Amino acid sequence: MVKDTLMDAVEAGAKVIQQYYHTRFRITHKEGINNLVTEADHESEKAIFEVIRKTYPDHYLLSEEKGAVKTESKYKWIIDPLDGTVNFAHGIPICCVSIGLEIEGRVQMGAVYNPFMNELFFTEKGKGAFLNGEKIAVSNQQEVMRSCLATGFPYVYPEAGKGPADTFGALVKKGIPVRRLGSAAIDLCWVAAGRFDGYYEYSLNPWDSAAGALIVNEAGGKVTDFEGKDYNIYENGLMSSNGLIHDDLLKVVNEHEF
Ligand code: IPD
Ligand code: CA
Ligand code: CA
Repeated sequence: MVKDTLMDAVEAGAKVIQQYYHTRFRITHKEGINNLVTEADHESEKAIFEVIRKTYPDHYLLSEEKGAVKTESKYKWIIDPLDGTVNFAHGIPICCVSIGLEIEGRVQMGAVYNPFMNELFFTEKGKGAFLNGEKIAVSNQQEVMRSCLATGFPYVYPEAGKGPADTFGALVKKGIPVRRLGSAAIDLCWVAAGRFDGYYEYSLNPWDSAAGALIVNEAGGKVTDFEGKDYNIYENGLMSSNGLIHDDLLKVVNEHEF
């Protein structure tokens, strides 16, 4: 069953990142001075590929480090072998493996596993969202002023226009707590679990959000782009929330006011 393979794959990746944690590993850089890639990213990816390929050798794989390994299959696995690499490299236990499964162009299943906190989030479209097997739901906070939010920032800051730092400033100047965990997949799962009332980010890749966005929706939350349209994992701008504060959060991102 595809669910078993998904579980085996996140577990295989998580086992690798646990083995490398707090050891001396090789680090290389991508665009942006602190955009790191460690041996653990590559080895986790290898382990995940092995698990999926053993059962489904013809499925399409889209993964952060290897890129797209295209096939004609209607099944596409969207993989972040280590989300939160900067945290990982600094020994901060907020990092995870994230895998979403797209079937005929729609994400239908997803899992996000942070082995350092022993938290495994799972969802299947139409069946709810779960943390370690227990059903989870978004918060019922109705006011942005009383919310606890999260965001993330790109490794290379966009030069033009009002950007993530201005939005962040608008919120913190009103006294609203905005956390920056450093793992988009975990941010989304924490919205789903009701820990955060909302999370937004300007620039993400499909592997950051494929699993997490479905987990938020299935926990009763809302995920859109910055115009309020249904979120597309291949486009920029993600707003997620418990649904109740969504319109106000969109106003903050677009007008720096609410
Ligand atoms: C990053 C993290 C971070 C987010 C960045 C992502 P990586 O992924 O999810 O929280 O702010 O936009 O690129 O590089 O750790 O896999
Ligand atoms: Ca990532
Ligand atoms: Ca990554």
